[in-house]
Amino acid sequence: MIEVSGVSFCYPGLESPVLHDINLEIKPGEFLALLGRNGSGKSTFTRLLNGLLVPTDGDVIVDGYNTRDGSHRLRIRQLVGLLFSNPDNQLVAGIVEEDVAFGPENLGLPPAEIRERVEWALSAVGMQDYLKHPPHMLSGGQKQRIAIAGVLALEPSYMVLDEPTSMLDPRGREEVLRTLMDLNREQGTAIIMVTHFVEEAAAADRVVILDHGRVVAMGSPLEVLTRTDDLSDWGLEAPEMVLLCHELRKRGYTRIPMALDSRRVAGAIKQFSCKD
Ligand SMILES: Nc1ncnc2c1ncn2[C@@H]1O[C@H](COP(=O)(O)OP(=O)(O)OP(=O)(O)O)[C@@H](O)[C@H]1O
Ligand SMILES: [Mg+2]
Repeated sequence: MIEVSGVSFCYPGLESPVLHDINLEIKPGEFLALLGRNGSGKSTFTRLLNGLLVPTDGDVIVDGYNTRDGSHRLRIRQLVGLLFSNPDNQLVAGIVEEDVAFGPENLGLPPAEIRERVEWALSAVGMQDYLKHPPHMLSGGQKQRIAIAGVLALEPSYMVLDEPTSMLDPRGREEVLRTLMDLNREQGTAIIMVTHFVEEAAAADRVVILDHGRVVAMGSPLEVLTRTDDLSDWGLEAPEMVLLCHELRKRGYTRIPMALDSRRVAGAIKQFSCKD
């Protein structure tokens, strides 16, 4: 479990904190989506989870290890894999396979296992044909996939991904999301994903919303993503399906349930509209 208790964070030289009194428990195997407008503190928060940043106040404790304690730093980095929002900050080597191997090599794994992990991670993101390519010659979305593979290859217990699909086309976004969901379900890897896509957040177990450095909402996707007026105050927009349900209710279909899933909404419309 990652326990975030009473965490505030102030960048050196800044007068006011960018995160205020954050309290959150992330359970092993959980899929958590983190939403919030630009500048709300999401990326800063992700960097606190693996000890890259240390709280100004409060504690982040990963499976019992406090990120404040320098002697646990390596162990924590192994447990919590962090993907930056800009893949250029993540890619380190001259060719793709070396890049993905970088993390596992630092863990001191045997070469055969490294090779296996690299191949698995690259095929998980659909980039198995790019083993020998230089990352800097790939497109933004391809680089993003390689960066994700680099984190996958570490096989962390918690994967923290800062906008992992921001540069992907709709198909690529769906593929990467599917990969993460499979990893979550099949291997029990906890996923903590920052996203600007509310539809992606709908796939999570739990949604957390940050606004001006504070947690303003936390709950199931259905609880949080149907609060259309609040979402708008937080600089976000509800998923299309929720807007559709609201519109239908306004027009007299008062028994239409709130739903995030198009099939559920379609079923309800059919049920209430006398069409066979
Ligand atoms: N290295 C830094 N030094 C000083 N201030 C910073 C630094 N990084 C971020 N900030 C400030 O901290 C606040 C939160 O930034 P952060 O990057 O965490 O937001 P975010 O929610 O990830 O935004 P976005 O959606 O644009 O990625 C912003 O006001 C930003 O200006
Ligand atoms: Mg950010």
